[in-house]
Order: sequence, then structure tokens, then C-alpha cells
Amino acid sequence: MQPSKLLGYLPPDLTHDVTHLILRTYPVKVLIGTLTRLTGALPYRLRLLNRVIDSPIGIGAGIDKDGLLISLMSRLPIGFHIVGSVTLKPRRGNPKPRMRRYPGLDAMVNAMGLPSRGVDFLKGILNNECVRWPRSKLLGVSVAGFSETEFKLLLDSLTPYMDCVDFIEINVSSPTYGGSWTEPHRLNELLNSLKGYDKLVIKLPLLSSINDEVKLIKLIINHNPFGLTIANTLSIKADLPMGYGGLSGKPLLGIVINLIKLTRRIGYGGLIIGLGGFMRGIDIIKGIKAEADLIGLVTGFAMEGPLVVYRIINELRRLQPG
Ligand SMILES: Cc1cc2nc3c(=O)[nH]c(=O)nc-3n(C[C@H](O)[C@H](O)[C@H](O)COP(=O)(O)O)c2cc1C
Repeated sequence: MQPSKLLGYLPPDLTHDVTHLILRTYPVKVLIGTLTRLTGALPYRLRLLNRVIDSPIGIGAGIDKDGLLISLMSRLPIGFHIVGSVTLKPRRGNPKPRMRRYPGLDAMVNAMGLPSRGVDFLKGILNNECVRWPRSKLLGVSVAGFSETEFKLLLDSLTPYMDCVDFIEINVSSPTYGGSWTEPHRLNELLNSLKGYDKLVIKLPLLSSINDEVKLIKLIINHNPFGLTIANTLSIKADLPMGYGGLSGKPLLGIVINLIKLTRRIGYGGLIIGLGGFMRGIDIIKGIKAEADLIGLVTGFAMEGPLVVYRIINELRRLQPG
């Protein structure tokens, strides 16, 4: 039986913590480095930010909240990695259990509650890892603030790292905020207050009303951000102590692809990172055809671990040989 399947029998929160510990060990990093060398040249190398990037496929926020997996990610055949979401001060997040898996649906629901060791811890990690992070991969940091001041303090503390960090993702869309940042007036004020900062990628929420979603996309695009991540999880009622959670995985794919197309049709020409249910080679092709620049995996990685990346690359090779 595959180790990833064996872990599937454990409670999801325990599986998550155990997998994280295993992935941080030296033998796993060596194994991943070897697998990547054996994989050979990747399909779809691309040019972004004036350099050649290994792949449009990468890892979205939530897998590596504190940067402890940066070293592992540098050895994977991916083109980008988003650390976080990181908060200003350490937070424990919600009590466990705080996630559920629905393997039959290729879906998960989580109510992590933005646990983070805090930005000072991440700065310590970046001090060590930045020198080793490859130029052929983008590094993003997702920040989560509970006020305008918190967002600004987070951005100020990361400013000295902007040689190594390629973009900062502004998380205004986690279900944990209870919708407070998706209120248009409040979001507009936040984005106004962040005008002086460079390389901001705004992470879009998934709302239950299409009209509200389109209004929010237009509002964000008016601020002409460097990039957009489309999208975060969809807040739903859930069989978890919190009573709600963010739905991720396959059920989001169609919505996300249509939102990417719509955003391009509205005329947005900046960077788009597609996130939501991308789990197979064919999904990646659909995301690129919808004109996303980069496609992230989160639930796929949470369910299969790093091997998901090699599986998807093999599927892409079979779909588009040569
Ligand atoms: C366990 C888990 C934790 C997550 N944590 C974060 C987070 O801290 N910040 C954030 O912006 N998004 C977070 N997300 C949302 C993902 O980045 C992504 O937007 C969403 O899950 C859709 O992609 P997917 O279907 O590939 O998972 C998390 C998702 C999961 C499943």
C-alpha cells in the first residue's frame, strides 16, 4: 500500500501534522531531489518577471504556513511556492479537528483559523533559505491581517526580503475573516491604504453571489494590482466544531476557470494565479487556456503529498507529447 494511502486512515489533522514532519526530514529532501533529476526537463517553462521559470505549476498558500517546507519545495519540479498565510503575531488557529477530507469528491473542508508562528519566525527562516532559493522559481508570501495596520506592519517587516520574495499575496479571503474584508467599502479602503507597496497579489474570495463576485473583481482590478490569485476556498456549513469551513478541491475547478476567463475578459492584464481544484494534467491545460499564468495545487498536495507534482507532469507529457 502507498504510504499516502496508509496516512489516509488516520484522522485528517493528525495525517496533516505527521506528513509535515516527514516532509521536513533530510532523507525525504534527498529523495525528492533525485526524483526531480530523473524527471528531466519540464514541459511549459515560461518567462515571468524577466526570468525563465521552471513551470507554471506551483504550490498555493496553506501547505507551508511557516516556511518550514521551503527547502523541500526548492527541490520539487515546480515554478513557484507561496508560503503562509503568515500573521503578525503567533496564532494557534481553531481547535482540532479543523479539517475533513472527502476523497470520493477530491475535496476537503478546513477551518484552520489561520494558525501561524508569526512573521518574526518566518523572517528567521527566510534569513537561512533565501540564499538557496533557485532563481528559476518564484517565491510568494501570503499575509493575513485583521486590520489595515496589521497588513501594513506585515508588509513593512517583509520589505527587506523583497530581493528574494517575488510577490506578497494579500489574503483578504479566508473564511476565518467571516467576510469582513470582502465588504466592498472596507476592501476598497484597505487597497487604498496599501497603494505604496509593490508586487501585491490580491487573493479573491469565492462568494455565494456571482453579482457580488463580479463587483469585487472589478473593484480590485481598479486598484491595478500586480497580480490576482483566483481563488480562495468557498465558505460552507461543515461537520466541524466551528460549524463552517472552506471547501477546496475538485468542486471549485469549473467556477475558478470561469472566473479566470471573466477576469481576462474584463481586461485585467496582470499576473493571474489559478487555484481551486487543479489536480490533474488536463486541469492545468484548462487553466492555462483560460489565461492564468500560474496554477497552484493545495488540496492535491494535501491529499497526495509531493508526488502529486510528478503525477501531473507525467499526465501533461502524455497529453502533449514533445
Ligand atoms: C488545509 C488548507 C489550508 C489553507 N490555508 C490557507 C491560508 O493560510 N491562506 C490562504 O490564502 N489560503 C489557504 N487555503 C486556500 C488555498 O490556498 C486555495 O486557495 C484553496 O484551497 C483552493 O485550492 P485547492 O482546491 O487546490 O485546494 C488553504 C486550503 C487548505 C485546503
